[in-house]
Amino acid sequence: MSIAVFPGSFDPITVGHVEIVKRAAKIFDRVYVSILENPGKGSEFSVEDRLELINDAIKDIPNAVSDAYAGLLVDYCRRKGANVIVRGIRTGNDVDYEAMLESVNNRIAPEITTVYLISGAEYMHISSSLVRQLMKIGISIDGLVPNADHKLLRRG
Ligand code: PNS
Repeated sequence: MSIAVFPGSFDPITVGHVEIVKRAAKIFDRVYVSILENPGKGSEFSVEDRLELINDAIKDIPNAVSDAYAGLLVDYCRRKGANVIVRGIRTGNDVDYEAMLESVNNRIAPEITTVYLISGAEYMHISSSLVRQLMKIGISIDGLVPNADHKLLRRG
């Protein structure tokens, strides 16, 4: 069985993330959509709330499973039996950061391969940080997240 991990902060999950999950779910038998629990990195949403939003977003993708991890991503992949990491690339700006992540991960766990999916053009400028900023100033996030009417996203 092919198992992949799609890791990230998902603070919150966006329609761009969901597009990547859908495509990855066609390639791999199981896709973990996994939140990094990082106490050092302040997040807007708690891990529990982010899991709830992910579960709502992926409920129609039977082979996608939400989860959370702490510590090294590659250790988590090994625990899950995954030998593939999936990451989305929006624009060229993402590439340097992704190359850095891959070089570290590859150094620690050369048996794990990172696979990149290039976001569709309509998702190129969508990010969790944009969603958070719009929420703070009270501008609609319809179309940017899969579940804009979810109670967790209805705050000013
Ligand atoms: O969505 P993000 O915040 O860009 O995701 C980054 C993430 C969570 C994939 C990455 O920071 C991560 O997995 N960190 C866990 C610690 C780790 O494995 N570090 C080694 C690679 S730098």
